[in-house]
Amino acid sequence: MDKKVSQLLNDQINKELYSAYLYLDMANFYSAKGLDGFANWYEIQAKEEQDHAMLMYRYLHNNNQTVTLEAVAKPDKTFAELSDPLKAAYEHEQYVTSLIGAIYAAAQEAHDYRTIQFLDWFVKEQGEEEKNASDLITKMELFGGDAKGLYMLNSELGARVYSAPSLVL
Ligand code: FEO
Repeated sequence: MDKKVSQLLNDQINKELYSAYLYLDMANFYSAKGLDGFANWYEIQAKEEQDHAMLMYRYLHNNNQTVTLEAVAKPDKTFAELSDPLKAAYEHEQYVTSLIGAIYAAAQEAHDYRTIQFLDWFVKEQGEEEKNASDLITKMELFGGDAKGLYMLNSELGARVYSAPSLVL
């Protein structure tokens, strides 16, 4: 495998684990506020990010690449308003989309068609992640300002259940 593509995928493992940690911190914020549904949403989000890291980890191993695990950074966002994590999550997903795009471009440059195919799942996943994050901001703006609306939204997010990724390596 091309050295640059391999290195970028290795770096992305760390970024996905950081994403998991960041989402766990968002769950932590909502738990402390008594919003268990919002906390559930972000706990599941954190699990999905761990899945993303593991998919890349396995992909590199399946392709005889060395994986080097680095320190995971401390979640660095501070939240005050209830909508702050929602906005931070959307921005973060846009950033992750740009990272996936950069690996994709490197794989294209290296004519690494196997990695391109592997990354196709992530490109689609990022579209879903961005849409979910943006929809949540809209719902919060529409309904979150009133206690009853916030209660309903919390219940809706509490109903989310984890499902393992559909990508099989
Ligand atoms: Fe691993 Fe939320 O993208």
